Amino acid sequence: MFENLFEQLDKEHMPVNVRAPVEERGPHASVIKGLAPGMRPRLLSWAGDFFFNRDVTEQPHGGPRSIQDHVTETKRAASEMPKRRDIVAVVLIVLPWTLLITVWHQNAVTPLLSTRKNNRLSGRSRNSFIYKECSSHGRGIVEVVRTEYVYSRPPPWSDGLPTLHVVTPTYSRPVQKAELTRLANTLLHVPNLHWILVEDTPKRSKLVSHFLQETGLNYTHLNVETPRNYKVRGETRDPRIPRGTIQRNLALRWLRDTLNSSSSSSSQLGVVYFADDDNTYSLELFEEMRSTQKVSVWPVAFVGGLRYESPKVNNLGKVFGWKTVFDPHRPFAIDMAGFAINLRLILSKPQAYFKLRGVKGGYQESSLLKELVTLGDLEPKAANCTKILVWHTRTERPVLVNEGKKGFTDVNVEI
Ligand SMILES: *[C@@H]1O[C@H](CO)[C@@H](O)[C@H](O)[C@H]1NC(C)=O
Repeated sequence: MFENLFEQLDKEHMPVNVRAPVEERGPHASVIKGLAPGMRPRLLSWAGDFFFNRDVTEQPHGGPRSIQDHVTETKRAASEMPKRRDIVAVVLIVLPWTLLITVWHQNAVTPLLSTRKNNRLSGRSRNSFIYKECSSHGRGIVEVVRTEYVYSRPPPWSDGLPTLHVVTPTYSRPVQKAELTRLANTLLHVPNLHWILVEDTPKRSKLVSHFLQETGLNYTHLNVETPRNYKVRGETRDPRIPRGTIQRNLALRWLRDTLNSSSSSSSQLGVVYFADDDNTYSLELFEEMRSTQKVSVWPVAFVGGLRYESPKVNNLGKVFGWKTVFDPHRPFAIDMAGFAINLRLILSKPQAYFKLRGVKGGYQESSLLKELVTLGDLEPKAANCTKILVWHTRTERPVLVNEGKKGFTDVNVEI
């Protein structure tokens, strides 16, 4: 009955100081109803009515009287009655107040949502301000989805987990730092990751050096300049020399020089992935590739004039071809972002590099992979190549026409 009444009150938006017989508004009403939004002001006004209004109310078990009458009567009785009565009187006065204060206090400290909806969240309400905000919206409550707070980025290094050696060639351009920032923000979520950043410069730039120091990632900073005759000519790229090739090869050489002979077997537990700085990577991708035995493969979105290109996988879970329009008969018709290689395989085949000369467009990846594996060795990942976990996004070149010839903005400000 109490519940119904209060629901009705809520619906009809009655003024908070509306009066009703105490019988229906007794201290238990609040308990029965639970912690409805807007309860607090009503409870307070009810308390006001209950304790300070002489003339209104009817006690559940008697004629018209107020609490003060009751108190005086109790006091009078106290002198005559045994001590037990005294205690009952005190309890009668203290109990409603205690109840009231408890409910009020709980309302303020543990807001409504946590008790009503998110029982699984109780006990870790660090962000209680979120709930407060929500509870003030009353009925239009949107559930807050919380996850465990991650205390450190990158996550702690765990022994036994294969290291991901992520190789990124990069070159100077207006959006370079923006691209690297975006990629670093992704990599910071990945445990046991080693970023090998290779600049296409005669010497390591200040911008990239400082940037890497600030990221908090485990990294190795290398540089090698692409020889002049291999570089981009004007606006059209020389199709025989794909960008980043020499830089990727330097990273392969670094891995062999550093990890081959002297190191312990645990440091050879790893996977190598070529991650250009303009792509978009799902965090899931890194965990997919971590178990690579030889070479693992998966689809890549926005390449080859398609929504995505993908290895073809048969019923046995084996790669038997390539779902591409551009030259599907290439030995490995796959984008640079679409495969990862076991580190031991790279160390055991020291002659395997990307070919610099005489490589047709689109054959860059094949030139390395055919030195390492056959088609049958490939391990399809991303749910047998049915999930897209990497996108070949490209950043639009920024319009800087208003800089003019001499530059309008301060050249000392790094962008
Ligand atoms: C991939 O396909 C194989 C063969 O059909 C199957 O055994 C395996 O469970 C599949 N893997 C996933 C992750 O779907």
